[in-house]
Amino acid sequence: MTNLTHEFLGRTFTSPLMNAAGVHCESISELRELQQSAAGTLITKTATLQPRQGNQSPRYADLPFGSLNAMGLPNFGLDYYLDFVSTQPANGRQLFLSVTGFSTAETLELLHKISASDFQGITELNLSCPNVEGHPQLAYDFAATKQLLQQVFNFFDKPLGIKLPPYFDLAHFDQMATIINQFPIAYVNCINSIGNGLFIDPQTDTVVTRPKTGFGGIGGAYVKPTALANVWAFHQRLESRIAIIGTGGVRTGRDVYELLLCGASMVQVGTQLHQEGVDVFARLETELQEILTAKKIDQLTDMIGQLQTL
Ligand code: FUM
Repeated sequence: MTNLTHEFLGRTFTSPLMNAAGVHCESISELRELQQSAAGTLITKTATLQPRQGNQSPRYADLPFGSLNAMGLPNFGLDYYLDFVSTQPANGRQLFLSVTGFSTAETLELLHKISASDFQGITELNLSCPNVEGHPQLAYDFAATKQLLQQVFNFFDKPLGIKLPPYFDLAHFDQMATIINQFPIAYVNCINSIGNGLFIDPQTDTVVTRPKTGFGGIGGAYVKPTALANVWAFHQRLESRIAIIGTGGVRTGRDVYELLLCGASMVQVGTQLHQEGVDVFARLETELQEILTAKKIDQLTDMIGQLQTL
């Protein structure tokens, strides 16, 4: 069987698979379950400076082909997650810490704290949460994103990736890639949920989540083509020093394989992890290994970004 051991940002991971921020990673007990799973590593729930309750329930719904969530960033605050990721024995797994601020000042304060801490893992700056009223997804504002990154990289020199929302226009891929290429960004993570979808319960004719009159981020199989397209678009536009994490619509080993083919070096699992639990990682790895073995691919690096066009 093909060995899934894999280098990402100069670190070795036993598998390219991990959870998507927000899924099975809010409490220490969930994080421990991820650590004990077959996942190559883990990322925390996106942390804010202060703990947050998040939005009112119901704020998550499983849908026929995925999920809708309007969680509103419930989390235990930066200190909780920073302490966890800084004190875990590495066991060959470099951990990821996801963070976001509600203003430039807050984001800079979060990153200053991480910078001054013992944390030697990878930080992911979430620029794309669609679920907090009054706080639009920053990465849809190109000028604001550039200004923020300028301030961040004035001082932050630990490995930093950014979590992007999906883009839908080639001009927007061009614009965002031009900005990202100007900074020492370690990786981009494509994609966060497709923001502000709506689902109607056919039994009750009501929306399925309470916050924001029913709007929520769409995940799962619905978003796979968008995730593939975003990974492929950034693979073609970003300098090769910038890695890509692919997130969106992974249910099978074939889905993982396709994200890798588009240019992802790591792959995150969200809705399927929520629905299946942490055993999903062992299943996906077996399915991926079977595909790679059948195709006689000895190592992942031989196929990452090798999608053929017509
Ligand atoms: O609402 C949430 O907590 C989701 C955050 C995200 O999608 O980044």
